[in-house]
Amino acid sequence: MRTKVAIIGAGPAGLLLGQLLHAYGIDNVILERQTPDYVLGRIRAGLLEEGTVALLDQVGAGARAHRDGLVHHGVELAFGGARHRIDMTAATGKTVTIYGQTEVTLDLMNARTAAGLTTIYQAAGVTPHDFDTDHPRVSYVKDGVGHDIACDFIAGCDGFHGVSRASVKPSAIDTFERIYPFGWLGILSETPPVSNELIYNNHARGFALCSMRSMHRSRYYVQCSLDDHVDQWPDEKFWDELKRRLDREAVDNLVTGPSIEKSIAPLRSFVAEPMRFGRMFLAGDAAHIVPPTGAKGLNLAASDVHYLSQALREYYDEKSSAGIDGYSEKALARVWKAVRFSWWMTAMLHRFPDTEGFNARIQLAELDYLVSSKAASASLSENYVGLPY
Ligand code: FAD
Ligand code: PHB
Repeated sequence: MRTKVAIIGAGPAGLLLGQLLHAYGIDNVILERQTPDYVLGRIRAGLLEEGTVALLDQVGAGARAHRDGLVHHGVELAFGGARHRIDMTAATGKTVTIYGQTEVTLDLMNARTAAGLTTIYQAAGVTPHDFDTDHPRVSYVKDGVGHDIACDFIAGCDGFHGVSRASVKPSAIDTFERIYPFGWLGILSETPPVSNELIYNNHARGFALCSMRSMHRSRYYVQCSLDDHVDQWPDEKFWDELKRRLDREAVDNLVTGPSIEKSIAPLRSFVAEPMRFGRMFLAGDAAHIVPPTGAKGLNLAASDVHYLSQALREYYDEKSSAGIDGYSEKALARVWKAVRFSWWMTAMLHRFPDTEGFNARIQLAELDYLVSSKAASASLSENYVGLPY
């Protein structure tokens, strides 16, 4: 088989890249290790920047996000027992859309099927080869039979544990990492959200987030220990802990119910540089991870593939390598700003082993400054709604 761009990974990065390239007339094949149902079953991000929604629109996959997504103009910060709203739209003129990653993935999968593009699911042993030459290829095994795809370029969209970044020789790559000493325990429940907007809570018992997927489906998170296991968190215990970390009004309004999903995610910041190795590019979680506190992971995957698709369009349409030569630097400039924002939100809102006394007071002073200074809340808003591409 031969294609112009072989994409490894059918998560949001790979699927969106596939549709953008298709829109530019660049044929591509996606290789995915899992089944479509497995990919659709992973409950992850829930908040889309305007730029991400615009990219879905660009590939004709935005209709459901507009119909079913919830447009939010503000966000709430709770600390010291009180809640404070930040009006993001007043500060930036922009909004964010609450629409689950599972739905984004489904919309992109459907668009791919409608366009008749090839996705090979349950591809085992996917391996990129010869990307430091002009003739890269990707090998894989399907139903016990080995295959090879010859291509012009490889796009590594295979997430943090993928094969693409792991195939680069260590001397060619620099990595930067911070591992946080806690995780997030998240549950999804068929209950109305506690408030119309998201509430980020700083509490002495640890961080809590009230989020949602729709007006009848809630998503809540509490900071937990890295040693915790979901089996130690029956629903009752989760709701009790959540209530202890929320403000009075939220506790009074909280509707609890059985969880329909429950999982623990560790928190990490990670960046690999560069994001291009000859004829292989990395995009999304394959290149970088942010803690979810800034809601940036999925949105960064979208901006990466926007830059990459533009670069490849330029290569094929204008016979210019300027775009692909500049991809890594351009993408990393935006990535690092989101890494900084996500790290900063995480530092301000969570309980660390040394968060008592001085450090706890500093967190509260920072939060108080944020909600009382127009400049500070504008800065948070500008980052939260997403920096320009
Ligand atoms: P992924 O979604 O990881 O997709 C990569 C794809 O590549 C997968 O389908 C995988 O099966 C496939 N793949 C991997 N290895 C191979 C291989 N060798 N061969 C073939 N295919 C392969 N972000 C937020 O903003 N908010 C959140 O609440 C949030 N929660 C998260 C919870 C968890 C547990 C995780 C892991 C991430 C979370 N994120 C969150 C981050 C967000 O989901 C990611 O940033 C986003 O999924 C990135 O998309 P991606 O396409 O780059 O990677
Ligand atoms: C979510 O709804 O899953 C979500 C929202 C905002 C975040 C993180 C997760 O910052």
